[in-house]
Amino acid sequence: MNVLSVVGARPQFVKAAAVSQQLQDDHEEVMVHTGQHYDPELSAVFFDELALPEPDFQLGIGSASHARQTAEMMIELERIVDDESPDVVLVYGDTNSTVAGALVAAKSSPALAHVEAGLRSHDWSMPEEVNRRITDHCSDLLFTPGDHAKDTLEQEGITEGVFVSGDVMYDTLLQIRDQLRATEFDGPAVPDEYVLATVHRAKNTDTRDRLEAILDAFAQLSVPVVFPAHPRTVAALDEYGLRERAMAATRLIDPVNYGRFITLVEGATCVATDSGGVQKEAFYLDTPCVTLRETTEWVETVDAGWNTLVGAETEQIVDAIRAAADPPAKPDLYGSGNAAVRIVRHLEQQVGDSGSQN
Ligand code: UD1
Ligand code: UDP
Repeated sequence: MNVLSVVGARPQFVKAAAVSQQLQDDHEEVMVHTGQHYDPELSAVFFDELALPEPDFQLGIGSASHARQTAEMMIELERIVDDESPDVVLVYGDTNSTVAGALVAAKSSPALAHVEAGLRSHDWSMPEEVNRRITDHCSDLLFTPGDHAKDTLEQEGITEGVFVSGDVMYDTLLQIRDQLRATEFDGPAVPDEYVLATVHRAKNTDTRDRLEAILDAFAQLSVPVVFPAHPRTVAALDEYGLRERAMAATRLIDPVNYGRFITLVEGATCVATDSGGVQKEAFYLDTPCVTLRETTEWVETVDAGWNTLVGAETEQIVDAIRAAADPPAKPDLYGSGNAAVRIVRHLEQQVGDSGSQN
């Protein structure tokens, strides 16, 4: 089987690492990096650490408006898909790199497979919601992390090609976690007790009031807040003149590598985040999560009592973080860490070397 994988942003490297490893022995994988993320701490570190193969194509698209970024990716991807004639194009998650790959594959001959299908926030103001819906509705094969996502697809009329695989991020996490126990990390020391925060969602960074309210909440906590900030957030802090306040309210640090980040999640008393992936990682690592959004795609974590949605209201954030302790018994929500094996087996059965499902 000849697979063409499209990646481009930080969470996609974490997801693709698991599947890529399973493809290595028996299949051909052409890895395309769109270049959506390009700073070493958002891209190269993951390839090194997660033993991802060097991309066969680095498109170098970089940052731009949604339309320009997506369109430039599509132009390059169309050429590569034509030249490589893969049996299947594999896309991950909900970024602009995902939807660019999906739109190209949907109008070419290879099958399109979407890993992390069926997730919905029902908030159309999120670019990710647009990306994931379009991608799902273009896909031949849809791999969902759990049953809820499968039901969501069914409600939207997508019943063909859906396979509940489990979450590939759990695979990567389990694999790296065991190697971490004895690892000493470079970089700034963290206190014994801390809250770990990440913020990068457009809604929280493109609005001064929301970012300020989040910082105000962090400033009120008695526990220090370790804050590895996405470059988008650092740019917003500078634009709004909030950098000094952020430094006073938190231990503001650069993004850290995956192993370091996972260790920080595991050691935190609570995670405060607007990330999608980090909500799940907190759950897997038994750390309660406070989500700095009004909606989530990962509704099961909220229903299970491990995740609290608080938006960007200072008081609500402070109250939720203070209250975030002793979550209830933990159900298995997103598989058992063998999603990538299941995905590759299913691809072999459905696509094999026979080419298009379209
Ligand atoms: C993107 C995804 C988001 C995902 C996130 C993961 C879309 C629409 N958004 O958001 O779903 O959760 O990645 O982290 O696809 N920048 C840098 N260096 C980089 C990359 C970005 O400085 O290597 C800065 C630039 O100022 C850029 C801004 O971050 O304009 C936003 O980057 P972009 O890739 O457009 O979106 P993210 O916020 O990273
Ligand atoms: N992550 C990391 N270092 C950091 C912050 C996050 O390695 O400093 C990892 C995290 O473990 C998770 C992924 O990046 O696997 C999540 O990416 P992000 O929050 O940027 O995107 P989202 O999941 O919201 O799309």
